[in-house]
Amino acid sequence: MTAQYQVQDGVAVISLDNPPVNGLGHSTRVGIVDGIVRALDDPGIKAIVLTGAGKAFSGGADIREFGTSKALQEPSLQTIIDTIEASAKPVVAAVHSVAMGGGLELALGCHYRVTVKGTRIALPEVDLGLLPGAGGTQRLPRVVGLETAVNMIVSGKTMAAEEFAGTKLFDHFAADDLLWDALKFARDAATVVGPHPRVRDLKVHHENAEAYLGFVRNTVAATAGGSPAPVKCVDAIAASLKPFDQGIKEERDAFLYLLTSPESRALRHAFLAERAASKIPDVPSDTPVRDIKQVAVVGAGTMGGGIAMNFINASIPVTLLETKQEALDRGLATIRKNYEATIKKGKLEPEALEQRMALITPTLSYDDLKNADLIVEAVFEELGVKEQVFKRLDEVAKPGAILASNTSTLDVDKIAAFTKRPQDVVGMHFFSPANVMKLLEVVRGKDTAKDVLATVMKLAKKIKKTAVVSGVCDGFIGNRMIEQYSRQAGFLLDEGALPEQIDKAIEKFGFAMGPFRMSDMAGNDISWAIRKRRAIEQPSFTYSKTADLLCEAGRFGQKVGAGWYDYRAGDRKAYPSQQVNDMIIRHSEHFSVTRRKISDEEIVERLMYALVNEGALIIEEGIASKASDIDTVYLSGYGFPRWRGGPMQYADEVGLYNVAQAIRRYAKGYQGKAWRIAPRLQKLADAGAGFND
Ligand code: NAI
Repeated sequence: MTAQYQVQDGVAVISLDNPPVNGLGHSTRVGIVDGIVRALDDPGIKAIVLTGAGKAFSGGADIREFGTSKALQEPSLQTIIDTIEASAKPVVAAVHSVAMGGGLELALGCHYRVTVKGTRIALPEVDLGLLPGAGGTQRLPRVVGLETAVNMIVSGKTMAAEEFAGTKLFDHFAADDLLWDALKFARDAATVVGPHPRVRDLKVHHENAEAYLGFVRNTVAATAGGSPAPVKCVDAIAASLKPFDQGIKEERDAFLYLLTSPESRALRHAFLAERAASKIPDVPSDTPVRDIKQVAVVGAGTMGGGIAMNFINASIPVTLLETKQEALDRGLATIRKNYEATIKKGKLEPEALEQRMALITPTLSYDDLKNADLIVEAVFEELGVKEQVFKRLDEVAKPGAILASNTSTLDVDKIAAFTKRPQDVVGMHFFSPANVMKLLEVVRGKDTAKDVLATVMKLAKKIKKTAVVSGVCDGFIGNRMIEQYSRQAGFLLDEGALPEQIDKAIEKFGFAMGPFRMSDMAGNDISWAIRKRRAIEQPSFTYSKTADLLCEAGRFGQKVGAGWYDYRAGDRKAYPSQQVNDMIIRHSEHFSVTRRKISDEEIVERLMYALVNEGALIIEEGIASKASDIDTVYLSGYGFPRWRGGPMQYADEVGLYNVAQAIRRYAKGYQGKAWRIAPRLQKLADAGAGFND
């Protein structure tokens, strides 16, 4: 049983007891109803207090039940609330710590609510592509007003209970002992002649509801991206102006509509995929971890500085090593400038600047790294330089120290072999800017010890990164896949499209930026260097040469004011470039390719299926241990639209049969040899299955 029943001086106390956050799973729901029925049947009981054991009132729906039949099995939350509202004995919610989603709806279904300062509340269903489906959209506006309810439900934002002092949301704030106050409140309420108040009987007042809701609906529709949930939230809240039963019916209809929508499926998948990413199949959750109290970063360039900031932001001191004083000074100045910019934006207290800077010990000497528990290398991307550094680290690092490389393309096993302790070597592939981007690919070498992986995964949480484990291969998960995507984008230029059309199609699909705007931002010279290396290692690899022509013309991107697009000083906007477009057209002519009109649909299919097909190979080779890890990489590091759930989830939604058919069709077209359908994709398509099943 995941709800407890106790009697205290004539009051029944029902405590939700389903750790960690008292999720409203089926057995908890049964427990609550059983408790209420027992209290109603017992003539010795005058009143009921509903509360949560441990660290929460209730975090809402139990995520372990997501998508299973149990989530909808009776008693539903609605049934519990109906039971409470029908109770002749007063039911008092004693709300503490957190009351989220269904937890807050449950409290709103009680006759009275008592809380304590520091309690946090939210209706965050919108983040999962849903709306509060147990009366939340009807009851919240009745107690806090239409506008506050709209703001809370559409944003999903967490609020402090004390912001609602004086509203009908809470009847009483306890000074300190919440349960004591709740019991007293309940006993007093029992002396009042019923019926006890129900939120459903209140009315929503607003001077200008029609106009206000019309305005909100338009604003929300314009900013919601692809998820229908925010607009449906507004519609459901608007129904709170109607009689309660009518409003509840409209809320239910909208909830069921969203529940079966692909966007909500995708958002729920994204949520669970992120949680699943920290679980590594052969590394049990109780694997002991190493203590990381002191970190060192080697190289204070673009990446090293950002990496150091992650640790100092989490109060972990960092020793920062460079080869020359100038490089060290430059690195420190950049870190300082970054903090100053954050302070200017009001996102950091001014006094934090010196506190954080004081956590960095700059040095030119490897001797200063001997106390580090973790050393992250971020020096030039050349194997020879990495060799020098790792050999030095092997000499100075203390036994058991973790030696990590931020390499984006080099072989982590080769790097590990430069040391006599390959078990302590791991890849920590941060993304640029390293202090901002959420994604961290943790690259597992063939000898990387399990406790090293467990330690790095735990540390990633501490520095607020979304970590995904990748095996060793060229580009790891993310960049290996993006290469196939860029490759198709290049072929499309050869065949008839222009950068602007491709970017627009991909941005309409939901990406923040299309491939060419993205490349201009990252610097076109970076992928140029990779292609030059590939040309030596893999001469048969085909790609559109337009990208090389661009670089030969010095158009390295935003940083030089010219890339696939033109840029103007003081303006980050990308302006289509006549020079580049002419170059692309001449290139097609040169290779006698007859340019054709290409549909946006083809652009999206080719770029997305290129990701999907490479993703399937990555799973097959064991580089990723599950499809959802690939989705997490793309959602947290590549701007893939969250409401589409990631490339593998998107493919599942399209249907793998359809994906495979399209790939076979494209394989017959221009540069068709670039398509080598992944056997795993074909097999799942034949079986009518999906990657994330
Ligand atoms: P960078 O050129 O900005 O910085 C490298 C720094 O390392 C320079 O400050 C240099 O003085 C220093 N350095 C060179 N040899 C050294 C040595 N032996 N000991 C100590 N310091 C030394 O390069 P960036 O972009 O920061 O790249 C560093 C690493 O991060 C590379 O492995 C790169 O592939 C990887 N990476 C880069 C990303 C990016 O977007 N720039 C993204 C992800 C990984």
